[in-house]
Formats: sequence, C-alpha cells, structure tokens
Amino acid sequence: MKKLLIANWKMYLKEKQTLDLIKKYKERLKKFSQLEIVVAPSDLYLIKSAELLKKTKLKLAAQNIAQIEEGALTGEVSAEMAHEIGCKYTIVGHSERRIHLNETDDQINKKINLAYNNGLTPILCIGETLKDKVDENRDTVLTVQLRNALSKVNGLPEKELLIAYEPVWAIGTGKTMEAEEMLTINRLIKRIISSLYSESFYENKVKLLYGGSINSINAKEFWLNEVVDGLLVGSASIDNEQTYNIAHSSL
Ligand code: PGA
Repeated sequence: MKKLLIANWKMYLKEKQTLDLIKKYKERLKKFSQLEIVVAPSDLYLIKSAELLKKTKLKLAAQNIAQIEEGALTGEVSAEMAHEIGCKYTIVGHSERRIHLNETDDQINKKINLAYNNGLTPILCIGETLKDKVDENRDTVLTVQLRNALSKVNGLPEKELLIAYEPVWAIGTGKTMEAEEMLTINRLIKRIISSLYSESFYENKVKLLYGGSINSINAKEFWLNEVVDGLLVGSASIDNEQTYNIAHSSL
C-alpha cells in the first residue's frame, strides 16, 4: 500500500508561486513511486493546478468544501465543483477552520457526506488543543470529534476514509509528538471507528495520517511507525527541497 504525502499549502502561496511549486514537485518528486503525493493549493488555483497535474501521478485536494450541495452560500465552493475540476480529495475539519471560522462537528459531518456523494475522498482532521492536552481530555475530545463527524455517513463503510490526527498544539509551532504515541492514537481511533462501523472497515478502508510541524528532520520517525499511513504537511511543504527530503525519508 502506498503511503500518502499530503501538502497543505493553506493561504501561503499566490498564483505564480503555486504553479511554480507544482512544476518543481512534478520534476523532483516523480521518482517517489512508493508514495501518493497530494497537493492542496488555494481554491483559486485549483483549475490551473489540475491542468498542470494532468498526466502526472500527483493528485489534487481541495482545502475545504461547502456544507451544502449547491445554491446560496456566498464565497464557498461545493464538493461537486471541486470534483468537477479534478480534485480527488478534500480536507475537512482542519483545526484552523474549527478555531478561526467556528466550524462545527455538524458542518463537518455534512461536508463528509457531500464529499462522498460527489466522488471525493475526505481527509478528516481531528486533534486536541493544548488545553485539552493539559487537562488530559485528549481522548474525550477525539472521541467526540470522530463520533460527530462520522455518524451516519452515506457511503461508509464501503469507501475509503483518511483521518489526519493533528494535535492543534503541534500545528505551525515546531513541536511534534513522539511518533510512538501514534500507537495509542491508532488504538483509540480504531476502537471508535469499530464501534461506529466495523473493525474490518478500519483495517481495510481507513488510513491514519499524522500532521503538525512535520519537516525533513522529524518525518522519518513517523514514516517508520507501522500505524502511520501518511503525513499531512503544512509550512514545510511550500519548500520544494524540504518536501523532497520528507519524501526521501520515507524510502
Ligand atoms: P504544519 O501544518 O505542518 O505547518 O504544522 C500542518 C497542517 O496544518 O496540516
């Protein structure tokens, strides 16, 4: 099974920077056939990115989709629109959206349903804040996030689901968790998903990713961890050289 390297470019890059970086990725990363490499540029550049990615193995993700199918929702992009222009994946429930845009579990659940209904595979982000961690509430927070996001989802358990565990205290801070801790996270998520759907769904269809301050130095210990199926990388992924080194460290 290929591991995933997902590059979340957030709101970091303008048009020329985005397209230049895609060209560099195409050139530098093509030799890593052991990985599925996914880029998530700004919505504004998805169409041009999709054109550049034609006939390559790189895949495209939206950073977000709207919580309704279509219609009156100013400023949003629907799952169908993202799929139509060539996205394979969409990130859903990133902590930056939960925190700064008050995105709720209910909206996230709707987005996951819409993603599946429109041919996209969701990359569901979950993670606890520093306060949750200090208060020893991590497991409760993750349980609630997962249960609410994944209750009664159309298309499950048949479809593939990506879950990115991203502790909020590790995102953009330079702090990472011990990769070993992913064993505990895996056990917890497996228990919850098995109770919602089935253990075989978790074993066969769910991929567990880690995200939060991944760089070319710390990536290897996560790649080596047997329960980690991939990495979701933010700021390091806008640097072509770092991304190359992150990909290389998976060999
Ligand atoms: P970071 O972001 O790698 O910059 O910490 C990760 C993410 O937000 O997905």
